[in-house]
Amino acid sequence: MQVPVLTIDGPSGAGKGTVSRAVARQLQWHYLDSGSIYRSLAIASLKAGGNLENVEQVSQIAEQMQLEFDCQAELIVYLNGENISAELGKETTGNAASIVAAYPEVRARLLQKQKDFQRLPGLVADGRDMGSVVFPDAQYKVYLTASAAERGLRRYKQLIEKGIDANLEQITQEIEARDLRDQQRSVAPLTIPTGAIAIDSSDMTIDQVIERVMNLVR
Ligand code: C5P
Repeated sequence: MQVPVLTIDGPSGAGKGTVSRAVARQLQWHYLDSGSIYRSLAIASLKAGGNLENVEQVSQIAEQMQLEFDCQAELIVYLNGENISAELGKETTGNAASIVAAYPEVRARLLQKQKDFQRLPGLVADGRDMGSVVFPDAQYKVYLTASAAERGLRRYKQLIEKGIDANLEQITQEIEARDLRDQQRSVAPLTIPTGAIAIDSSDMTIDQVIERVMNLVR
């Protein structure tokens, strides 16, 4: 029996994580946060005292690292048995992830780990290349975006709410730099996958986006 897959791709800060988690919960499907795999790899490489520019070393770590995911209200990730959730969401981790994610060798090594998430009764997969490379045959594909200014503002508000000091201009610039790196890399660049419906969430509430995606699957 074919396991249904809903892919949700798009740039950082478009709301993919929140929407994917909510939809997975409503459908009672599994959830793959593929960004957390690249984030974990960045953390593992830095912990090993490694240099993110050293492709050989980073690919070896990608091959060897053991990841376990516990998807409760918040995603908990164990890297070789250690809970790394606190480091996972940091801006610096996201930026480091986009450096290691640009290496073709690394992406090849992480492909099967992601495909293994496709299990009954279904999967919601969130990332940059879910509908284009990892699950090209997915039944449902969404490309979720928002303007860089809006994404920067959302991220800024999240950080301020958490009591973390933040600079809106700097965050927006970092988002734009990450978009560019994700779009211009030679393998699996951020793109609208064939067959995906594009949703611009700039002027939508998160509930409206969730409803739109649920209507697609229903
Ligand atoms: O989505 P998230 O912000 O957690 O992703 C962190 C980084 O991981 C992205 O900027 C991107 O470079 C990389 N990534 C990727 N392919 C995916 C998911 C994330 O290259 N499917």
